[in-house]
Amino acid sequence: MKYVQQKNSYSIMSKSKYVITRPYENKGRWNQIFGNNNPIHLELGMGRGEMIIKLAQQNPKINFIGLELDDGQISFAAKRLIGKDIPNLRFISGNALALEKMFGREIDLIYLTFSEPWPKKHDEDKRFTHISYLKIYDKVFKKKKHIILKTDNKGLFAYSLESLSQYWYTFKKVSMDLHHDERNIPNIMTEFESNYAKTTNKPIYYLDAEFEG
Ligand SMILES: C[S@@+](CC[C@H](N)C(=O)[O-])C[C@H]1O[C@@H](n2cnc3c(N)ncnc32)[C@H](O)[C@@H]1O
Repeated sequence: MKYVQQKNSYSIMSKSKYVITRPYENKGRWNQIFGNNNPIHLELGMGRGEMIIKLAQQNPKINFIGLELDDGQISFAAKRLIGKDIPNLRFISGNALALEKMFGREIDLIYLTFSEPWPKKHDEDKRFTHISYLKIYDKVFKKKKHIILKTDNKGLFAYSLESLSQYWYTFKKVSMDLHHDERNIPNIMTEFESNYAKTTNKPIYYLDAEFEG
């Protein structure tokens, strides 16, 4: 059954104009893929791509790339886009650990949305804000580093605040309750996020951090 699903995902992905299955070949030439020099925003672990698809539709002067390990999720996103034309959007099937094989210094902003929290201490290095990941991001950011993170997980949020500040990032915005924040921070809600907010009454945490060296 798994084999049939994988075969099906591969077939959808290989026919989709949005999916890049061999991203290493595009390192240093993403501006050619998009046909312009607009900024590139990357989401790590885009899932079914709900947020990145809407961001791309709302911001045609920014290029968006969603990276995802799970081909089932990518093919779900690609299927939803059949017949649609969003030239500033691409998906990559791949692992965030290999970012520097996919990109030169080409990225303006990294989104980390509802990433796995990996709460156990021995899994700490799998968190997307662990110092080993921050060092990988250094290799793909243009001069300025910029990360936006959104999570329902207080532990991951606290960890990320500490990890980013120890790595000299400063915070443009921090919210302990994004949905009720009086500053009206722009937000695209995913289905998980709106269900979570409705059913739990717990906050969504948000941070916008940057470092200009
Ligand atoms: C909890 S989901 C969140 C999906 C999406 N960002 C959202 O808000 O709906 C986390 C996603 O990250 C992906 N992921 C986890 N580790 C990854 C890695 N190292 N590289 C790429 N994707 C990864 C998982 O496959 C999963 O789809």
